[in-house]
Amino acid sequence: MQNRSLVSISDYNRDEYLDILRIAAKCEHNPNQNILSGKVVGTLFFEPSTRTRLSFETAVQRLGGRVVGFSDANSSSVSKGETLKDTIKMVSNYVDLIIMRHPLEGSARYAGEIASVPVINAGDGANQHPSQTLLDLYSIQKTQGTLENLNIFMIGDLKYGRTVHSLLVALSYFNPTFWFIAPEELQLPVEYKIYLHSQGIRCFQCSDFTGILPEADIVYMTRVQKERFSDLVEYEKNKNAYVLNNAMLENTRPNMRVLHPLPRVGEIDVDVDNNPKAYYFTQALNGMFVRQAIIAKVLNLSDQLE
Ligand code: CP
Repeated sequence: MQNRSLVSISDYNRDEYLDILRIAAKCEHNPNQNILSGKVVGTLFFEPSTRTRLSFETAVQRLGGRVVGFSDANSSSVSKGETLKDTIKMVSNYVDLIIMRHPLEGSARYAGEIASVPVINAGDGANQHPSQTLLDLYSIQKTQGTLENLNIFMIGDLKYGRTVHSLLVALSYFNPTFWFIAPEELQLPVEYKIYLHSQGIRCFQCSDFTGILPEADIVYMTRVQKERFSDLVEYEKNKNAYVLNNAMLENTRPNMRVLHPLPRVGEIDVDVDNNPKAYYFTQALNGMFVRQAIIAKVLNLSDQLE
């Protein structure tokens, strides 16, 4: 395989997802290997991040590579008016791989077309977050022993939540049943509903989840994405629409796990954190191994991992 970008989860297929999960398991077993010796990775974060940037940067360093970049676009020449196109062309001259987060939907695809090196999309607006999806798949596979035939509850901001959009596309290869639970204003965009319908995926849409949680294998909570609202009154109206607490987890399946891409801002009570069914912090840890696997795959170096 040639070097290849990861812009959308649809750029890869089912077998390639499973291959990345297999490589991630190797990285989890042995995270400190030297396959990126002599390589430099550029991390361009035009939007804030804790997990994605730091886990990618740690992933590179644990694989023996080096990182350059910025976590605040105001510290780059973008603040002087330099375009995304020129920024990407410049950084392509310096690095072997670009990892980029940007607020504009489609920006990662655009960067991938301009760059002379592979691009990994670390989140483009409300569109896609494919590396999060792969770590979500890894977490689901680890906790459920399979990706097939699971009951997946997606709760919260399904309109702006890019992790939801990527994840439901990836899971559609594995015969899921989806329950979508969101306020009226934050329902899943129609293009994703049409996609799931075209794939023959079973979907239920509910306004409340309290009585149906015993059906769930995975409860995927999401934050209401304040930064995507043009009207903050709408945000205030919806921000506490769904809050998961410990009492709600009674009578849920033994295998059920609570996932969340994080950060959370109140949609999971802290009293859930010590429940053995809370998996979100381990999910974030899995992100480092999965991002090591993605980098190895994108740079066509995975055969060198032990
Ligand atoms: N899940 C996720 O993308 O977290 P960050 O915004 O902290 O990177």
